[in-house]
Order: sequence, then structure tokens, then C-alpha cells
Amino acid sequence: MRRTAMSLALATLSVSLVGCGGLGVTGDGDDASPTKGDDITVGLLLPEKSNPQYEQFHYPVIEAKVESLTGGQGRVEYANAEADAAQQARQLQQMINDRVDVILLDPVDAHTIAGEVRKAKEAGIPVIAYDRLAEGPIDAYITFDNELVGGVQGRSLLEALGEDAGISDKIVMMNGSPTDPNAQQFKAGALLALDGKVTIAKSFDTKDWKPQNAEKSMTEAIDDLGRSNIKAVYAANDGLAGGVIKALKAAGVTDLPPITGQDAELAAVRRIITGEQYMSVYKPYPQEAERAAEIAVAKAQGRDIQFHALTPDRVDSPTGKGIPAYLVPVVALTKDNIKDTVIRDGMYRLSDVCTPRLAADCAAAGLKK
Ligand code: BGC
Repeated sequence: MRRTAMSLALATLSVSLVGCGGLGVTGDGDDASPTKGDDITVGLLLPEKSNPQYEQFHYPVIEAKVESLTGGQGRVEYANAEADAAQQARQLQQMINDRVDVILLDPVDAHTIAGEVRKAKEAGIPVIAYDRLAEGPIDAYITFDNELVGGVQGRSLLEALGEDAGISDKIVMMNGSPTDPNAQQFKAGALLALDGKVTIAKSFDTKDWKPQNAEKSMTEAIDDLGRSNIKAVYAANDGLAGGVIKALKAAGVTDLPPITGQDAELAAVRRIITGEQYMSVYKPYPQEAERAAEIAVAKAQGRDIQFHALTPDRVDSPTGKGIPAYLVPVVALTKDNIKDTVIRDGMYRLSDVCTPRLAADCAAAGLKK
């Protein structure tokens, strides 16, 4: 039942986002002599499972897109590192041994994986960084605009604090994993909006993006600052927001301060409706996942004209300059636009979001079945 609902949601999501950024690339490209046919294997390395987006959206969308781009002949070899960088290095090595044709890599640790990226390159296997910018000789990078994510979060937090917000307002920053360069970009984007407007009384990095680590850090912040002195919490994603909320509730806070998030996780969308979380960031996953599949297939098949058309942006990493890239834009998700984003695009059905427990809050938010 769940599977059916999910397949339906994904099908709708893919269909409704067609034309929102993809180039409609098919197997019949414009390059005269592709080096490989449709019988290709795309290696896909994702970083963790505790955040539902990877197995719920990225893997199935990429798998379906590779299949459709190759007339059903291409396949995806998938491995998830479960937040273990050493395991991901072994998984990448296995893909080199298996002679996959191209690798999409979302790294657990963007720095330490560089050695394996080099080995893949030496074995003639192109590596495309996916969502997080892996170091080493990567061929391209596809991601959401991560500084924009942080900016959207920071500006939303100020908006939630309202006109009276001032430099004496103490906020807590719950950032992501120090081995994920996205976390640094989220933080930088948020600081650009927040600096000079409020006081960042405490700032934490969260090992492995684990909600329970955020919960621990938040408990420490409450103990140090006092539960009624925290005006807002910048949480880098929805998982961390969940940990922060648990800690606040455990400390007896009933009137929760504005808390940010990211990813539009189902649990977070529900918390936004009930007012426990102020916002999230809506990242249309199919735009990122389908574009990644298009780039990977074009690269594996040696269709250079398509590959370049699909990667018009340029980014720098600590080990490379001017990396061909594509950055997908994002939007703030609040109570006001749930219908026009996650519901309209088919990420969730209204019945998934508005359970009977939420009936009154959903009605108040203008979300009716
Ligand atoms: C992703 C976020 C995600 C986080 C934890 C980041 O690299 O961009 O969407 O919440 O990792 O998995």
C-alpha cells in the first residue's frame, strides 16, 4: 500500500516537473558518434538512510530516469554508505572493480573520498558529484543552490521574529555535518542574512547530521542560556529541527520559538501545519535527480555537446577550479505555500499530510481534502 502510494507520488512528481529545467534529453543525442550504447551501468553512491529523501526520492527517480533515457537497457548499481565514510570508500572501490560506466557520488566525507575518486578517474570511470561537492578529479557537479538554501532559512527566521527583532535577540545555530561542504554553505548563506541582526549565542556542528546529536547540543544550549532566553533556532535541516524540538519540549518549553529546517520531510510539513516548526526548504528532488541521470548518461555515452549543455554553471572545490555544474533553485516552505509546492508537485498527497489528528490545523491552514 505504502509502495503504491509512493510510486504514484513519484510518478506525479516526475510528470508535473517535466519542463521545469530538464532539457528533455533522450537517448537520441546530437553527438555524431557516442562512444557507448544504451547498455550502460550508472553507479550511484548515496550517503545515509536516516534522512528519508535518499531512498524515497533520489534513488528511485535516478533509476527510472536512467531506464527511460536508455530505452530500458541501462541500469543503476546502488550503494548507501549509512553515514560511514570508510564504507563509502569500499563501495566506490567495488564499483571500480565492477567496471561501471560512470559514478554519481554523494559523499559522506567530501575530503577523504578524493583518493577513491582519483582511482576511478585512473580506471577511466567519470565521477559526477551529486548534491555534495566531492573533492578530487570530478567531471561535473549537480546540486541545489546551497547558499540560497541558507539565505532562505536566515531570511525566514528574521521574518518569523518580526519587526521587533533586534541584536539582543539570542538565537542558536544547529548546523550540519562538518564533513559535508553543503553544511558550510548553508551556514554561510544563513549568516549573510543573520549577521548584525540578531546574536548567535551558540553555534554547533552536528556529527553525521544525526538528530540525536542535535538534541544533545540543544539541551546544552538550553542549560547554558536558559530556556526562555532563546528567541529562535536555526536548524539546518528537518531532521535536526526534530532533535531541537525534542530537547525544547523535554525542557518544558510549550510555546516553541521559530525553528527552521530543510528538505520538506513529511514529518516537518506536518509540524509546520501544527505550528511547531516555522519553515522548511522545498527542494524539488526530481529536478536534481533527473538532471543527474541525464548528465551521467551523456557523460558515459561520450555525448559531449549534451553534457556541456546540461552543465552550464561553474564551481570551484578545494581541489578543482571551474567544474562544470548545474545548480537547481529552491524555495522557502511555510504554512502559506504547502499547497502550491509539495502537494501541487505530487511530493505528497493531501491525505498523507493531513491525517485525522491534523484535521483542525489543516482546515485552519486552508488545506482541505
Ligand atoms: C543535503 C540535505 C540533507 C543533509 C543530510 C545535505 O548534503 O543537501 O538535503 O538534509 O545533507 O542528509
